[in-house]
Amino acid sequence: MLTESKPLSFSGSLHGISDKTVAIHHDKLYAGYVAKKNEVQDKLKSLSQGGDVSSANQSYSELRALKDGETFATNGVYLHEWYFDILGGTGDATGSLAEALKKEYTSVENFMSYFSACGMASRGWVVLCWDTHDKALRVYTGDTHNQGGVWGCLPILVLDVYEHAYFIDYGSDRKAYITDFWKNLNWNKADELFLQAIK
Ligand SMILES: [Fe+2]
Repeated sequence: MLTESKPLSFSGSLHGISDKTVAIHHDKLYAGYVAKKNEVQDKLKSLSQGGDVSSANQSYSELRALKDGETFATNGVYLHEWYFDILGGTGDATGSLAEALKKEYTSVENFMSYFSACGMASRGWVVLCWDTHDKALRVYTGDTHNQGGVWGCLPILVLDVYEHAYFIDYGSDRKAYITDFWKNLNWNKADELFLQAIK
């Protein structure tokens, strides 16, 4: 089954992040990952259904290149969808998520400060997730789509800190971009994701 690009969940402009950045980021970069996911998984399908996999090798092989591309493109699709899905909101932390954040990080402010700092420390992604092993909220970072992720974790807040997410609007001032992330965050949506994750 082919993956299709998911439309933006919000309409109108974001705070600080220009329409131009959103258009390039969503319509070109994200859409590019969707296309590559489909291309790679189409090639893997024939290999997984009786194709010749006898050359598989960890240094280099067609299968290795495809498997590496598969996780890169697939996580590129999913991470961007989580990121775009929680933008376009406003307001403060709410509901069960707010209570859980207070419990884990002593206050929502402390969580936001910690998550923001993780965004400065990462080269790609910051993810607040529900860790199904620890049964707790955790913040994990990844320097690229298929590095740094922890399996068994369900994303709640995903922040893209690649330069392409902010450089047009903020130059090298990533801190200002992250400050605006909180102004653009749809806390209601995040609370919904949290409630789904802990079920
Ligand atoms: Fe991105």
